[in-house]
Amino acid sequence: MKKYILAITGASGSIFGIRVLEELLKTAEVHLIISSGAFQIIKDETGIDWTTGTEDRIRRHFDTERLFFYEDARMESPVASGSFKTDGMLVVPCSMKTLSGIANGYANNLIERAVDVVIKEGRPLLLSPREMPFSAIHLENMLKLARLGVKIAPPIPAFYHKPERIDDIVNFIVGKILDSFDIENGLFKRWGS
Ligand SMILES: Cc1cc2nc3c(=O)[nH]c(=O)nc-3n(C[C@H](O)[C@H](O)[C@H](O)COP(=O)(O)O)c2cc1C
Repeated sequence: MKKYILAITGASGSIFGIRVLEELLKTAEVHLIISSGAFQIIKDETGIDWTTGTEDRIRRHFDTERLFFYEDARMESPVASGSFKTDGMLVVPCSMKTLSGIANGYANNLIERAVDVVIKEGRPLLLSPREMPFSAIHLENMLKLARLGVKIAPPIPAFYHKPERIDDIVNFIVGKILDSFDIENGLFKRWGS
């Protein structure tokens, strides 16, 4: 079974991270890290309240043995070490603060450390940076990482599949993110299909 690390940070678009998690859990083991700043945004944007009793609530919400959860302060977690082998990592959505920490190897919390490890070990990494507009600083950080082979996949919608509901737009973006990891999905209508 594949084993992925998924981080959800405090950018808008937490629904993308949660939907990616639901999809990954269908076939894979997932090691989930949520930044401390993301919990309030998850609550405001989706209504899901994991601000208290976090680990228990997340466990009950997904109800699967395949999910492992870590707080972003827990630097001693398995994902902080390169000896803990995984099939790659996704950061969805990725805030500009976390992007900067990653691009500069700052490793100041478990998310940044886990990404640092994934980069040094040469494992697949996808970031879904979300801000509007992007500044030159944001773009330089993205370019630096793209040149290292990191997939930069911002949650930008397309309209050729004729979305009618927010869910259609979310599924398109989540489907494209899964495509990057070669994970089979039928979440959106492909051009030419
Ligand atoms: C409602 C709300 C929406 C936010 N949206 C974004 C965003 O889209 N992109 C971003 O880079 N930061 C956004 N922020 C700011 C980040 O949450 C903040 O920089 C935080 O320190 C990020 O920390 P983290 O990367 O550890 O989660 C938002 C903050 C709030 C309260």
